Amino acid sequence: MSVTLTDTGLRVALPDGEAYFNAFWLRDNCPSSFDAETRERVFDICALDGDPVIAAAHVDGDALVVDWQGEDHQSRYDLDWLARCANGAPRPDAAAIPRALWRSDKVFQRFNRADLDCDQGRCDWARALIEDGVAIVEGLADSDAALTDLANLLGEVRPSVAGSYFDVRVHIDPVNLSYTAAELELHTDTPAEETPPGVQFLHCRANSVDGGDSLFLDGAAAAEDFRNEYPEAFELLATVTAPFYYEHDAFDWRARQRVIELDAGGAVSGLTVSQHMADVFDMPQDLLDRYYPAFVRFMRWLRRSDYLVRFRLNAGECIVFDNHRIVHGRAAYSADSGHRHLRGCYIDRGELRSTYRTLFRKTGQTAPKPGTIRAP
Ligand SMILES: [Fe+2]
Repeated sequence: MSVTLTDTGLRVALPDGEAYFNAFWLRDNCPSSFDAETRERVFDICALDGDPVIAAAHVDGDALVVDWQGEDHQSRYDLDWLARCANGAPRPDAAAIPRALWRSDKVFQRFNRADLDCDQGRCDWARALIEDGVAIVEGLADSDAALTDLANLLGEVRPSVAGSYFDVRVHIDPVNLSYTAAELELHTDTPAEETPPGVQFLHCRANSVDGGDSLFLDGAAAAEDFRNEYPEAFELLATVTAPFYYEHDAFDWRARQRVIELDAGGAVSGLTVSQHMADVFDMPQDLLDRYYPAFVRFMRWLRRSDYLVRFRLNAGECIVFDNHRIVHGRAAYSADSGHRHLRGCYIDRGELRSTYRTLFRKTGQTAPKPGTIRAP
C-alpha cells in the first residue's frame, strides 16, 4: 500500500480506498499520546517547538509508520484504526441509538425492579430510555430508599431547583403548581436552570384519587412533524432563546432556553416548554411579531390528540423519562377523594449514556459501525 506525503499531511491507501490524514491530527493521536493506565491523553501538541512535519512514512504490515521532522520520535498507527477514523467518521458509540419517535398509540416499555440488578436487565432498561425516552419500572417498595436505589442503578441523583428530591402532592403553602391538585399543563421540568435536569424519575407512592391521570408525549416526534409542516416557525423556535424563571421569597432562578433543542446532527433532541415558568418574553417586539405566532402554533400542535399518551400511574410504579425530550403533565384531581403522592428526582442524561456504554461492553455486545447511526 502506498503513502504519499502532501504539504499538510499524507495520503495512504486503505482497503476501502485512499484516505487523507492531517499531520497535526496524526502527531496528536500517536498511540504513545495516551496513558495506558488512565487512558487519558498525556501528549501536549502545543509543547512542540514548531508545527508537526512528516519526514517520512511507509506501511509496514498492518501499520502506518511515520517519522517526524526535528523529533526523535516514530509513530505507528494500526491501519484498521485509521480506516475507522477516515473521512471524519465519529468514534463508534453504543449509545448513539437513533430515537424511536412515538405517538399516541405508544405502549411504554415496562421493567420489573427485580430484573434490574443484573447487567443485562439494566442495559435493556437504559437502552429503552435512550431509544424511547421513557420506560416504567414496576415493583418498587413504598420507601424513599427505593427511589434512590433505582436512580443509582443508572447514576447519581443530581439536585435541581427543588433540592435533591421533590414530593408531588398537595402542599399547604405551594410554591409550584405541581404541589396543588390543579391540572398541570404539558411541560418539561425546571427550564429556569441553566441546564435543566436530564432524566426524571417519578415514583408513585400512592394514587387513590379521582382524576390525576399522567399525560406524556414525545416532544421530538411532535417537533419533527411540526418542522415538516411549518419550517419557518420551527427555525425560529430552534434558534431564538426565550427567558424562563422560577421565583419566590427565597429564590430567583432565571435562564434562557430554545423551545426546540437540536442535537449536533440537526435532529430534535428535546423541547423546553413550561407555561408556568415562561418569563415575560423580552425579545424585540418586531421579532415577537414572528416569534409569538410560531410559539403559539407549536404549543397548540403539542395539544393535538396525535401525540398524547394518557394513563394512570399506580402505587409501586416509577416512570423514568428524558426531561428534555418527553413532555409531561397531569390532569386535575379531587384532593378530597384519596391520597396522591409522587416522589421524584433526576440524574443527568450524560450519565445515563455513560452507564449504558459500560453495560453494553460488559454484556459483550459490539458497537455499531460508524456511519450507520445518527448522533443522539
Ligand atoms: Fe414536571
